[in-house]
Parts: sequence; C-alpha cells; structure tokens
Amino acid sequence: SNDSGCSVSTRILSDSAFQEKLRQQHEESMHRELEALLNTANKTEAEISRKDFDGFKKLFHRFLQVKGPSVEWPKINRPPEDSIQPYDKIRAKGLPDNIAASLNKLAVVKLNGGLGTSMGCKGPKSLISVRNENTFLDLTVQQIEHLNKAFHADVPLVLMNSFNTDEDTKKILQKYKHHQVNIHTFNQSRYPRINKESLLPIAKNMGMSGENADAWYPPGHGDVYASFSNSGLLDKLIAEGKEYIFVSNIDNLGATVDLFILHHLMSQPADRRCEFIMEVTDKTRADVKGGTLIQYEDHLRLLEIAQVPKAHVDEFKSVTKFKIFNTNNLWISLPAMKRLQEKNAMDLEIIVNPKTLDGGLNVIQLETAVGAAIKSFNNAMGVNVPRSRFLPVKTSSDLLLVMSNLYSLDAGSLTMSKKREFPTTPHVKLGSSFTKVQEFLARFESIPDMLELDHLTVSGDVTFGKNVSLKGTVIIIANHGDRIDIPAGAMLENKIVSGNLRILDH
Ligand SMILES: *[C@@H]1O[C@H](CO)[C@@H](O)[C@H](O)[C@H]1NC(C)=O
Ligand SMILES: *[C@@H]1O[C@H](CO)[C@@H](O)[C@H](O)[C@H]1NC(C)=O
Repeated sequence: SNDSGCSVSTRILSDSAFQEKLRQQHEESMHRELEALLNTANKTEAEISRKDFDGFKKLFHRFLQVKGPSVEWPKINRPPEDSIQPYDKIRAKGLPDNIAASLNKLAVVKLNGGLGTSMGCKGPKSLISVRNENTFLDLTVQQIEHLNKAFHADVPLVLMNSFNTDEDTKKILQKYKHHQVNIHTFNQSRYPRINKESLLPIAKNMGMSGENADAWYPPGHGDVYASFSNSGLLDKLIAEGKEYIFVSNIDNLGATVDLFILHHLMSQPADRRCEFIMEVTDKTRADVKGGTLIQYEDHLRLLEIAQVPKAHVDEFKSVTKFKIFNTNNLWISLPAMKRLQEKNAMDLEIIVNPKTLDGGLNVIQLETAVGAAIKSFNNAMGVNVPRSRFLPVKTSSDLLLVMSNLYSLDAGSLTMSKKREFPTTPHVKLGSSFTKVQEFLARFESIPDMLELDHLTVSGDVTFGKNVSLKGTVIIIANHGDRIDIPAGAMLENKIVSGNLRILDH
C-alpha cells in the first residue's frame, strides 16, 4: 500500500539520522559523566584531569565517527625512493666540527609509562635490572651523561611517565642528582576506560584505588604530543633553544643518540626543514607484525596491522612487499609539534584496545601511537638504520641475550661483541618457567657463553650451572614432571637434551 511504501523510504532516511542521534546521545552522556567525575576531585586534581578529559573527548568524538578501515588498500603506494634513506647515506655526510652546538638543540625523550607486568615485575618496567645490576633507566642516564661529558653539551633527559610509573620513577631519580644530566618528567594523560556496551566510563569517582583501581589507563604513546604540551615542558624546552627531540621506548637498548642523524636534521635548509624522522629497519620473519611506512595521498604514513583490511593481512606481513618496519625511534621538530598541537592537526588513528577486567567486565580503551603523526609533519622521512638500533627487551628471552657475552657494555650502550662471527643475534625461545624475571634469574647460576649460538629453545623445568657454553642449535626439553640441570662447565654444541637429568647437592 501507499503507507508501507512511504514508511520504507522514511525508514532509510531516518536510519542514518537515527545513527547520528545515537552518536550525539553517546557523546552527551559521556560529557555529563566526565563532568560528574571531575566534581568528585579537589581543585588542583580537577584542573589536571580537565586537560586530560579535553583530549579524551576529542578522541571519543572521533571514535564515534569512525566508519570502517582508515585506509583504502588500492590507494597504498610504495614510498618514493628518497623518502626512506639508507643510514649509510646519512652517515656519509659526516659530522660537523661543532657537535656540541647540535647536541644543545636536542632533548632525549623516553617513553616510560609502562609497567614490568609482562616480565613478572611490579613497578615501572624501566626499573628492571638488565645488565650488571643496571636498570633500563640507569643505562639511559649513563648514555646521556657520557654524551654530555664527551662533547661538553647539555642534552636533557625527559621521561614521559604515566600515573602507574610516576611515583616509583621519581623516587629513583634522586640517585642521579649529581650526574651531568638534567632530568625532566611529565605525566601522560589519564583516560577513563569505558564499558564496552554502554560506552560510558566505569569510574565511580576520580580515585585510582579500590573500586576504581581498573578504571583508568594511559592512552598509548601517541599521547606524548598532547601531554608534553599540556605539561608546559614543550614551551620550556623551545624557550631554552631546543629544536628536536629524540623519542624512543625506554626498553629499546639500541636507541642511543645518533650523531649522524642529528647532523642530517640540523643541516637541512630552513625552507625544507625535515620535521620528522622515523627510524625503520629491515623486516625479518620475526617482525612481520610491525608497522610499516607507505605513501598515501602524497604523504608518508605509518600503516599498522590493525588498520589493514582482513583480506590483505598476509600481504601486509610479507617481507618482500613491505620490507621495513618502525623501530619507534623518532626525531621530531619541537616548533612543528607546537604548531600542529595548537592547530589540533594531528589526526592519529585510533587503536581500540579491548580488555576483560578481573571481575569479567568487558571494557575498551582508546589509544594512539606516536609514529602515526608522521603524516602531519612537513618533509618527513624514514631512515633505514642497522638492526642494532632496535634492541627491545620485551621478554626474558630478550633479557638473556642482553645479559650475555654477545654484548659488551660501554658508557650505558650495548654493542655486539666483536668476537661473534655473525652479525645476527641468535634465536632464543625460553619456556614459561622463565617468564618472570625472578624465576629466570634463579635458573641460571651464571649466564652461559653464547658467542657461537644460533638457536636455543628451552622448555620446562631446566636450570643452568656456572660457566655453561652453548653453540650452534641447542634444544633442551624437560617434560612435565621431569627436570634437567645442565651441569657447571658443560659445553653443548648442536645438542638436543631431554628426559631427566638431576644434579643434587649433598
Ligand atoms: C603525576 O601522576 C602522579 C600519579 O597520579 C601524581 O602523584 C603526580 O602529582 C602527577 N604529577 C603531575 C605533575 O601532575
Ligand atoms: C669455564 O669453561 C671453560 C671451558 O668451557 C674453561 O676454559 C674455563 O676455565 C672455565 N671457567 C671457570 C671459571 O670455571
């Protein structure tokens, strides 16, 4: 009938209008709830949190708008030849006479918001000991202090803490008071986790403990732009004459200040200033999930696996088509950052991170990644750096490598031992009995000699005596109920060890 024909067309019309209305309602409810939360805080707390919430509102607004994937696959192109330069080409330009002048325009920013939970540690990840009792933070301070002393320079260290790491980190910072490094800290934002169904905050008030212990999260390192600016440090460093920051994850022990890249930045003509360098490195089969650089609508852009349509994931992972991945070592112009931040011109892709809390509640947290901003900066480029600049310690297998004689430690920097014949690191896969750092340490009386190791797999209840050496491919498997003690002084070369092998004290 006439009636039904009419109602079909109005239904179609009002469907999108209905969606829009729903979106507005979600947004209004969110704003109401945030305001109510702020009312539970004291004045200073509310002031800080209001800035955080302003950022969150923008993110939430964009989250509600998002329809479908953020890239159209056919529009993806290989970056032009000169937009990702080999490190050797940058290095070939040499160094200026006055290195201190360049260094004095630099600040080092370490992303220090993460906890050591995945390695079984309480507190900030940066406070885990990684080599000769030195923590990630110790090594970072030593590196920068060495630089400042060697070149009579003043490179400050800036730590981006989160509400999870700020207090513990600050306690430790006392011990560097007399070191030749100025250390600044700022907090990244604190955003509310939202209920997956209602899309409203789960927080009852601004508190962070008790019923609110799981209510907040630090929203990924893409937050560095807003929180650095909100903290006032961005303006302060610009006023002090700083022009660039070198940003990296604090658990990447390969992320040292590279003087050649710094010089490259400083020597660009003023009208073609490179505002952003992303250090990338060649993919191996182990890094297929890492973000890569693409050319998209005339801009260099970071493509993360989460943005890739399902049908193209295998293509994304291929080592031949997308040859490089992002190390998250980034060089960023401070004036450019200020300009973009003021214009609110950084549309960082939203990463929706779903979590199930202890009580079984499903929440989502909206995050962004620092490298995603590359598309907003002028004359951005990639530099394809040696693998040695990417030495992250995410697991105890990584930890075993950096504790071993494969590396030597010099002024806070780890370099691969010259005694190793191949420049590649061995593949190490330690089983779940090694996940927690405490358990890992208890299983090695001393760290084995690994100079000639290619591959190590260890699984089950296995311990290593003093002065063990491992060569070639070594596989040690203790099945459930069995235990294997590798005796002191043992040399295992291309061996598979299984069954039961116990050494008892008497
Ligand atoms: C940073 O966060 C911690 C933990 O919430 C808080 O105690 C501290 O006051 C914050 N610092 C600043 C400068 O806001
Ligand atoms: C460790 O083992 C090597 C041989 O693998 C031996 O030459 C060396 O003396 C041993 N060192 C100690 C302290 O036992």
